[in-house]
Amino acid sequence: MSAVSPSASSPRAASTSAARLSPFRVVRDPGLVRDVLHRPGDFSPANALVAVTPLTGSSLRVLQRARFALPPILASNDTDSHAGVRKVVAGFFTPATVAAIEPRIRELARESARTAAARLSQPAGALEGRVDLVDTVAALPPAVLMLELLGLDVPADELGALKAWSRESLELFWGWPDPERQLELARSAAAFYDWLRDLVRRSVAARSRNLFAALDEHGLTTPEICSLGYFLLIAGQETTTQLISSVLFRALEGSCPVTWAEACDPARAREAVRHVLATESSVPTWRRVTPRETTLGGETIPAGAEILLELTGNHGVGGPGRPTDYGLAFGSGIHRCLGAKLAELEAAVVVQETAAALPRIRLADASPEWLRLLSFQAPRAVTVKGPTGDS
Ligand code: HEM
Repeated sequence: MSAVSPSASSPRAASTSAARLSPFRVVRDPGLVRDVLHRPGDFSPANALVAVTPLTGSSLRVLQRARFALPPILASNDTDSHAGVRKVVAGFFTPATVAAIEPRIRELARESARTAAARLSQPAGALEGRVDLVDTVAALPPAVLMLELLGLDVPADELGALKAWSRESLELFWGWPDPERQLELARSAAAFYDWLRDLVRRSVAARSRNLFAALDEHGLTTPEICSLGYFLLIAGQETTTQLISSVLFRALEGSCPVTWAEACDPARAREAVRHVLATESSVPTWRRVTPRETTLGGETIPAGAEILLELTGNHGVGGPGRPTDYGLAFGSGIHRCLGAKLAELEAAVVVQETAAALPRIRLADASPEWLRLLSFQAPRAVTVKGPTGDS
């Protein structure tokens, strides 16, 4: 069988139709995926943030009016400037910083779980004794924590807009919207970018330590900082919300090796997170493009080939005494995700605290709609019902 296939992937990794994958050469074998990621000269990330559905003239005009631009600074940067920028960003997510923030993650996770419990115990009425865990426990903690770590001052009442903009931008760049929907999404991206530019200016002017001021000091221009900020403010929280949503759903559904009753144990919650990262991560694929002709697994790949790497769904899934291998879920090599440790910790703590606070809940909707974009996936809602306490 060909190592680099143009067809669709494993059922859980991405249920994207073959037609939608048609421009891509899909690389599924974990060894070959790693090989691609470790040869950035042969397989460039330059296409990482290119819109999957080409933008129409109307959408482009909306974005141009907002001076929206994504020059390659970090995730899509295949030049020598990448290492220096990466070092600045990495300084905000060191292992020590991430370990130190655990109590704050727990505090936010408990607060969210309490909100969910309070809503569930309201007399059946508007909520009909149901609550959506995506909205109540998965959505906000990752956004709050990311902004705190980056030193960015965003009022709490703007977080809802940040979440909506993030989802809409993911659909604009990684989805297949029709022209009408694309125009709506472009307007949302333009509004997000305006807001972001203002945040960048305020942050650079502030005297406190924050990411945008550090990038300014590193020599980046405002459009370059906005480009990085646009990617990071989405990737740094919405992907974690999606991971938490998938873990909550699979544990409650009973299709994960860790049951809901077991998920209140820290080690078991972590195991559940790693299982989902290995089998159906929130970022199931990532892209590369060949700047020149090269070879992969003995096959010749022409210049300009668009490569889709499957990062999840093809690992072994552990077994007694064997840890689950989820080693590609955060990429590999010089562009490996800078938030991997943070995302894993946040997901484990939120799942654990939710399972501990709501031990007797059940899924109210066993077949929710899933978000399925080229590189992002999660249940759109995890609606639950049931008593909130132990009794
Ligand atoms: C479940 C959550 C997440 C998943 C599955 C995920 C996955 C990924 C993947 C697959 C890449 C591309 C890696 C490559 O090209 O080799 C990436 C890059 C990146 N991620 Fe994440 N990510 C998550 C959360 C986060 C968080 C929480 C942050 C920061 C707060 C973050 C920051 C970044 C950055 C800065 C890059 C670009 C690194 C570079 O190009 O040097 N991610 N992520």
